[in-house]
Amino acid sequence: MGSKIGDYDAVRKDIIEAIPAERYDKGTFGPSMIRLAWHSCATYNRHQNNGGSQGGTMRFEEQYSDTANKGLENGRNALQPVHDKHPWLTYADLYTLGGCVAVEQMGGPHIPWSGGRFDTDDIEDIPPRNRLPDGHLNKGHIIDVFLDRLGFTVQETVALIGAHAVGECHKSHQGFDGPWTHNQTEFTNNFYKMLLERTWKEKVWDGPRQFEDEETHSLMMLPTDMAFLKEPFRPYVELYAEDQDRFFEDFKNAFVKLISLGTSRKRGEKNKLL
Ligand code: HEM
Repeated sequence: MGSKIGDYDAVRKDIIEAIPAERYDKGTFGPSMIRLAWHSCATYNRHQNNGGSQGGTMRFEEQYSDTANKGLENGRNALQPVHDKHPWLTYADLYTLGGCVAVEQMGGPHIPWSGGRFDTDDIEDIPPRNRLPDGHLNKGHIIDVFLDRLGFTVQETVALIGAHAVGECHKSHQGFDGPWTHNQTEFTNNFYKMLLERTWKEKVWDGPRQFEDEETHSLMMLPTDMAFLKEPFRPYVELYAEDQDRFFEDFKNAFVKLISLGTSRKRGEKNKLL
């Protein structure tokens, strides 16, 4: 049965039901939904005021077939029945709300969310491909993407990367392999703890450059994750490793900013990207 237009409480309930499902890692689609929200928004360019969640363009093959988006079909497919049940809801709203609900459902903070994003049918609005961060790279790349293009502060950037407490890298997606923490279905400050407490060595294997912990050889860090041990990021890594409440508060605020990037743009306004 459908719902009344604007009944976001009913939508939230159906997203919660879509999260535990046995077909994906450790029985949850939560991490894929969080990553879907992040990738829907991370194409924003503040210098051009284009890209971002507005338009719901992640539903188009031209965008989801980007290698950086491989695996997000898990989150999208899990959310599709929610859209079928609430057809008045835009994909731009669904993909961002899915991430917020998944964070909370996995034990993280409640993230305030408001609707009103539009969907576009114009494929010219699809953001260019090279905007998502590349895990093979280093600190300069994080500064270019998060601070310069997306407009986050150093603190917000460190808070956002804490989402790597959940989920894992899948060899079949981008070549990287393994989880960042031992409790990958719980949203905690464990990403920072593992980063600081474990001894990280380059993994010897035939895959892309990544790091593994000497203690168990079962956890991983991307080259970009390792860059958070350096200035200017490290003081916040230390802060969040000590204080989960502070991490939750700062993550919540940074995620609210993430899902609002570019949303003041109106349909058809400055969103032609070519
Ligand atoms: C997974 C890269 C920032 C949330 C991944 C994966 C890579 C990656 C390579 C593995 C994908 C797969 O194999 O399925 C990066 C890079 C970042 C970044 C290079 C920035 C430097 C973020 C941020 C968030 C996030 C800011 C959220 C706020 C996630 C989640 C997963 C993930 C939840 C697990 C997905 C799953 O288990 O299906 N990321 N990421 N990432 N990322 Fe990030």
